[in-house]
Amino acid sequence: MNIEQLNQQFEGKSPEEILRYFLAEYKGKIALSSSLSIEDQVLTDLVAKIDKETRIFTLDTGRLFPETYTLIDSTNKKYGIAIEVFFPDHQKVEEMVKTNGINLFYDSVEKRKQCCQVRKLEPLKRAFEGLEVWICGLRQEQSITRMNIKAVEWDEANGIIKINPLVKWLETDVWDYIKANEVPYNELHDKGFPSIGCQPCTRAIQPGEDLRAGRWWWEEPEHKECGLHNRPKK
Ligand code: ADX
Ligand code: SF4
Repeated sequence: MNIEQLNQQFEGKSPEEILRYFLAEYKGKIALSSSLSIEDQVLTDLVAKIDKETRIFTLDTGRLFPETYTLIDSTNKKYGIAIEVFFPDHQKVEEMVKTNGINLFYDSVEKRKQCCQVRKLEPLKRAFEGLEVWICGLRQEQSITRMNIKAVEWDEANGIIKINPLVKWLETDVWDYIKANEVPYNELHDKGFPSIGCQPCTRAIQPGEDLRAGRWWWEEPEHKECGLHNRPKK
């Protein structure tokens, strides 16, 4: 597996072409990790059309918006799929809340990362069992932390190949696909939320603000990653 070569091979190729290659090559060992974002909904649509048997999982932190649960359900029904839901370890959550409080994330970047660790990263490790490739919805345009991402990456921290088929897409490309293919999406997007994560850590943005300005809005832009997609500093 030469990541460099694969990136050259997929230069200028469509998300569908990238997915077709990996879904065939890694059948049974590949999964889409979906946060139910617009990007992940596009990928769900593509994956379900190429191979309905493909695993799609989501990490339910326990702090999601009600609208996100509604979307999990409507997506399953529309495509005839069953998105796997991974929950955090209840003992770890109880311990964390007992020590640092229910809304610890507002206290410091450190505590916010602890919450993401317990509620997202630990369950993600379990979701990775048996996997060689994970499909993600990251795009370069999303933030300064994502400017250098590639279509195919070696995820050193997790020992897994990570693919970002929508890497070059702009937000307008994502919406065009959603409208053209009648892909279900989170109703909060129509209420000023371009990027949606956990409820206490996401708010609506004002026109002209950065796409991810409403995520962990009290932190500096360079901290705005939950640890799922950490990259070595340049
Ligand atoms: S985050 O790091 O800020 O939370 P973002 O919401 O942009 O990430 O999502 C980027 C990609 O990470 C998604 O396209 C998806 O592949 C993965 N991801 C993020 N949150 C989740 C989640 N709760 N469950 C599954 N995958 C997720
Ligand atoms: Fe916790 Fe917020 Fe991270 Fe969700 S996004 S896991 S609520 S800190």
